Amino acid sequence: MKRIVSGMRPTGKLHLGNYEGALKNWVKLQDGYECFYFIADWHALTSDYADTANIKENTMAVVTDFLAAGLDPNRCTIFLQSLVPEHAELHIYFSAVTPLGWLERVPTYKEQRENITDRDLGNYAFLGYPVLQAADISMYRADYVPVGKDQAAHVELTREIVRRFNNFYGEVFPEPDALHTEVLTLVGTDGRKMSKSYNNTIELSDSPEMIRAKVRQMITDRTRIKRTDPGHPEDCDVCKVHRLFVPPAVADKFDGECRNALIGCVDRKNALADALIEYLAPITKRLNYYRDHQDEVRSVILEGSRRAREEAGRVMADVRRAMRIDWY
Ligand code: TRP
Repeated sequence: MKRIVSGMRPTGKLHLGNYEGALKNWVKLQDGYECFYFIADWHALTSDYADTANIKENTMAVVTDFLAAGLDPNRCTIFLQSLVPEHAELHIYFSAVTPLGWLERVPTYKEQRENITDRDLGNYAFLGYPVLQAADISMYRADYVPVGKDQAAHVELTREIVRRFNNFYGEVFPEPDALHTEVLTLVGTDGRKMSKSYNNTIELSDSPEMIRAKVRQMITDRTRIKRTDPGHPEDCDVCKVHRLFVPPAVADKFDGECRNALIGCVDRKNALADALIEYLAPITKRLNYYRDHQDEVRSVILEGSRRAREEAGRVMADVRRAMRIDWY
């Protein structure tokens, strides 16, 4: 079976955009691949080293959402980067074969150095972020890395690092391919891309009341002032998002009624909230269970990390042998 590796930073509770853009696909991939999914808590340090108070709590929240979303620890390995210290060792070897220029040219690095001003990013670890990511991926000899388009450059860099490593020491690692599955970018409650940093998210853990309140704030057709005005569903966030969560025929019916002013924007918002609540129901149910069983979530992390570490140990033995620094 082909191998899949992917990770998320411990950002805390996941939102519908995380689910639609990544997690839902991770759940699907469990059946056709040998999957390793992890929390990149060391990557959180590269930019947020000054405040580590929430990392553990956020890690638990993300893994709780993983399980609620349907990741099954019997069909995939769920682990924590910092519990597999081999990642740090491989990071050292990779950092030796990575020219500085490659890192300085990474688009996410340049962008974030320019745009993030509330934190200091002039540290060594931040520049090395993609080298650690290359180690994460290669540690399990991944064939595919399901990530968003924003991560394409990091997977490309992984391929280059692996190529250079293999040139020096022999064919130890395969070159992984990115698996870009970001089918849609979900719009948030303020009309921008749904993102935690914009504070416009609908979280997997939101209660039905919260979902209703958030959907009420969403933007509809700005040209439809009065209830009797005909609407333009193609210019309405609520209509467009609703379409993503109901069968096409249902969306068509609502669009028609909107165009003919048979329903108002509030009606469509209610329909969207209903659809989201129903869509999330199985996730909500599992979430409630795991919220009350945080000890089980913790065990999943520890057991998965133990399994990951076994694999990492085997690969590191090959690496040390290839590099002629094997002593036993
Ligand atoms: N950089 C990724 C992100 O921000 C997270 C990540 C760390 C990752 N290591 C990885 C993703 C390895 C895939 C594979 O989303």
